[in-house]
Amino acid sequence: MIPYKHEAFTDFSLEENKRKIKEGIQTVEGYMGEEYPLIVGGERITTEDKIVSYNPANKTEVVGSVSKATRDIAEKAMNIADETFKTWSKIKPETRADVLFKAAAIMRRRKFEFSGLLAKEAGKTWVEADVEAAEAIDFLEYYGRQMLKLKEGYPVESRPGEYNQFNYIPLGVAVVISPWNFPFAIMAGTAVAAMVAGNTVLLKPASTTPIVSYKFVEVLEQAGMPAGVVNFIPGSGAEIGDYLVEHPRTRLISFTGSRDVGLGIVEKSAKLSPGQIWIKRTILEMGGKDTIVVDKEADLELAATSIVKSAFGFSGQKCSACSRAVIVEDVYDQVVARVKELTDELTVGVPDHDEHFMGPVIDGSAYKKIMEYIEIGKGEGELLTGGTGDDSQGFFIQPTVFKDVDPQARIMQEEIFGPVLAITSAKDFDHALEIANNTEYGLTGAVISTNRMNIEKAREEFHVGNLYFNRGCTGAIVGYQPFGGFNMSGTDSKAGGPDYIQLHMQAKTTSEML
Ligand code: NAD
Ligand code: ALA
Repeated sequence: MIPYKHEAFTDFSLEENKRKIKEGIQTVEGYMGEEYPLIVGGERITTEDKIVSYNPANKTEVVGSVSKATRDIAEKAMNIADETFKTWSKIKPETRADVLFKAAAIMRRRKFEFSGLLAKEAGKTWVEADVEAAEAIDFLEYYGRQMLKLKEGYPVESRPGEYNQFNYIPLGVAVVISPWNFPFAIMAGTAVAAMVAGNTVLLKPASTTPIVSYKFVEVLEQAGMPAGVVNFIPGSGAEIGDYLVEHPRTRLISFTGSRDVGLGIVEKSAKLSPGQIWIKRTILEMGGKDTIVVDKEADLELAATSIVKSAFGFSGQKCSACSRAVIVEDVYDQVVARVKELTDELTVGVPDHDEHFMGPVIDGSAYKKIMEYIEIGKGEGELLTGGTGDDSQGFFIQPTVFKDVDPQARIMQEEIFGPVLAITSAKDFDHALEIANNTEYGLTGAVISTNRMNIEKAREEFHVGNLYFNRGCTGAIVGYQPFGGFNMSGTDSKAGGPDYIQLHMQAKTTSEML
């Protein structure tokens, strides 16, 4: 087995790669507007009611539509997944992992097409789409290998005349609920982690981005996944999401999304349903309000570039995005001025044919919410740049920066999930850390400093799941920077980490007298 190494990113300064992404987009254009069924036990099911997926950069362009699962179909899918678990859980881990490796190979061959689909369906720029396609492939390659390690079990001691074993076994039916902001990587990663561990999956993707999910389930089928292992059931969160979360046969819920929906799942999944004989396992990865701290002893150019790239990559719609910069007052004016210059250089535009730094935000309700926060920001700080939007063709918002914002202001505390950055100054490094820790979230953070003692202090005191030094706070790589957050950012179940698969299993001890 070739050791795991993350998928290389594409260099779009090369003409050859520009040609390849354009070809990928052309392939996607060949199937724009098509209708897709649900996939339950391998059977294609079409419903009257559809979820329509639009291109956020061109809001009248339909990427495709999928049938919408009803409760009856969710129940049917649950029964099939429950039945399929009896066989899939007994399939050798090597065979399960092989499905992932084969699927990764297919995805690698179709990488530019998947990137093109992410440009169309999620409004991702070429670079962001390419990074996400790479991350999706990485999850399959990494989790496949993790399962091969895990199958060996962990050694435990045995006394004379006794033989003890300690092994992980699968759990049952996993409900996997994924968000729209990484509609390929997080959707695929959370589904295959559950699947390779021997569970069966009911996959409910976000309603804004279901097409990429359908295409992925097709890839799993091509890779040899038996019918009923991953079932594709897009539908309303409130209708089938709640139903499946509360279902007595649901054994595991793997959710990635907002704080409020995540907390609702904690509550609902904790209540016993009639006939339920287990405590449901939950993996919950939620929102962020992520901070970059700039020390007075720091490479200030690095500070400004890290802030701007982390704040505005994918229009600030990453859970890891830098939405707050806390800058020690000695260097505040200098860094703020450079942040403004760099932000003003960013290009915003339609991502599916040209190379831009930023595309649109995901839909009309996101656009409205972000524009409302920009209005709130005008009363909470000084608008340094941006502040405008245009939703005539697509949902475009200029990268927006507020300075001199109070650390307790709403735009400093609430997840906006758009291209809005709030900046505040701190008296000194300790004060900067205090501000950095003052939200209920704890997902990512970064410190830009050349002071070794301050770096070590932050390592201990900056309370986030993913802390970075002298770089931005986005872009965790599978197998290199396992990803997950503290506090209201979730259960810190580290996606792409060495103990992630175990979260989808339960440990069993056997002890035999010889
Ligand atoms: P969301 O919470 O609105 O939706 C996430 C998923 O939950 C969707 O599939 C949605 O249909 C489903 N859902 C909605 N209501 C439900 C219910 N009652 N029961 C079950 N499922 C339900 O989040 P979103 O807008 O898709 O994604 C953005 C959010 O996700 C942001 O808060 C972001 O920070 C977070 N996120 C976190 C991580 C992480 O790793 N921590 C990664 C990506 C996104
Ligand atoms: N894995 C993504 C990042 O780190 C969320 O930006």
